[in-house]
Amino acid sequence: MPALAIDIGSYSLKIVSGQSAKKPIIQRVVEAPNDLGYVLPNDDEQAAKLGETIFSIINDNKLPRTNIRLSLPEAAISSKVIAIPPLTDAELASAIEWQAEQYIPIPKEELALQYQVLSRPEKGNKQQPMKVLLVGARKSLVERYTNMFLGIGIEPVLLESHIFSVIRSLDLATTEPPTLVVNFGASSTDMGMVDQGELSFVFTNPLGGKALSKALEQEIGLDPEQAEQYKRQYGLDATQFEGKVRQALTPAVDGLITEISKSIRYFQSENPNSDVRRIVLSGGSAQLPGLTQYITEKLNAEVLLADPFYDIKGEVPTANRQAFTICMGLLMREL
Ligand SMILES: Nc1ncnc2c1ncn2[C@@H]1O[C@H](COP(=O)(O)OP(=O)(O)OP(=O)(O)O)[C@@H](O)[C@H]1O
Ligand SMILES: [Mg+2]
Repeated sequence: MPALAIDIGSYSLKIVSGQSAKKPIIQRVVEAPNDLGYVLPNDDEQAAKLGETIFSIINDNKLPRTNIRLSLPEAAISSKVIAIPPLTDAELASAIEWQAEQYIPIPKEELALQYQVLSRPEKGNKQQPMKVLLVGARKSLVERYTNMFLGIGIEPVLLESHIFSVIRSLDLATTEPPTLVVNFGASSTDMGMVDQGELSFVFTNPLGGKALSKALEQEIGLDPEQAEQYKRQYGLDATQFEGKVRQALTPAVDGLITEISKSIRYFQSENPNSDVRRIVLSGGSAQLPGLTQYITEKLNAEVLLADPFYDIKGEVPTANRQAFTICMGLLMREL
């Protein structure tokens, strides 16, 4: 079915059109700078401006307006995987609000809640818990967000949080070892732990490529355009520019590594018999030259760069593929 996936990032807005399926067929890939700088409107005025921007990108590129899928930033959401004694669907439906109250820090009257059973023990096995994913957001925020789209004549068919789109795009098999998925963007980094094909937890941090460029501006005295260029060209390569670019970028990259280590330690404290030896990087900043190697050396783990267009047909982009991970995950969702 023809579909449109929209990812509003603080660096750029990304829109991909194509046939939605487990393996989508790509029609158009569009990226436009986000001159507004915000990803979630704080008031109606901001919503109108962002809506207009999206409207003109869709219009200018003659993109279809059906089957539109959206992803919400992790920072706007509170997700939690809980383990509870096995319940039937009906029992769970009546218990879920009470569960949410304990785990989701949003007052009941403001809470828009979705939940999904991730796993159930085999019938008759009352020892094992069932795992349920709770996703909560503030009603006012979700309403403003969907109203922004309704205001430009778009009725979204799907609204999920970033990490789900990212994980789906990777198509990880249930047999894969515990994998930490890191979406390294411009002003946010989302980390989701996937174990046996299931999300165990998600963390989000205000880290990203903007801080890397800022470091180059401040440490080397580059202007913003040069900083962006040096970052992309030299990255963590110690042999370039007398290693000065690498040196300026290192503190921010080490900050990312500290957060990755925290996520891994958290998983291991909850799962003492499991080891996380694999990290998959996506998002525009994952392309920083030398990043995968740097993390491999620091953490002694296998670090892979996601390719959301691997084995995908149609008008696939040749560059900046990692930036379209969220859009690809949205298109891969079968509704
Ligand atoms: N080749 C590259 N090397 C290093 N950084 C890169 C490269 N290409 C893009 N980037 C950086 O990637 C970032 C954009 O990534 P992305 O498109 O994932 O962010 P975003 O979705 O707009 O932001 P966010 O989700 O954090 O609001 C920018 O900071 C940009 O400088
Ligand atoms: Mg993003």
